Amino acid sequence: MRKKTTLEKKPAGKSAGWFKACRVEDVPANGGACIRYGQDQIAVFYFTGRQQWFATQNLCPHRQQMSLSRGLTGDASGEPKVACPFHKKSFSLQTGDCLSDPGLYRIKTYPVKIEDGYVHIGVE
Ligand code: FES
Repeated sequence: MRKKTTLEKKPAGKSAGWFKACRVEDVPANGGACIRYGQDQIAVFYFTGRQQWFATQNLCPHRQQMSLSRGLTGDASGEPKVACPFHKKSFSLQTGDCLSDPGLYRIKTYPVKIEDGYVHIGVE
């Protein structure tokens, strides 16, 4: 069973640009962590095999559950994805498209960069 990781991060004010979200070691290998950004929640994922990072909204659009950071990660024909733990709707971590119900749901994705051991998320 995967450990639930929720990091409390409440910036003084939201502004566009890179948001210093957490330390690299705060995100489980091949799993996700939830970052609070003001009133929003952002799910951050790290794929060790690819050495790639992804970030999406944490809210699953199917039944409005804050759940995607606890989802099952994997890939669909090379497309990195996360499946919501509730009803297994899966989403591309690159495009945000719903892979199990194309055209029905979509999630927001964010750019990610790593600097000095910290995960930075690009926000609008
Ligand atoms: S709430 Fe996520 S798949 Fe239903």
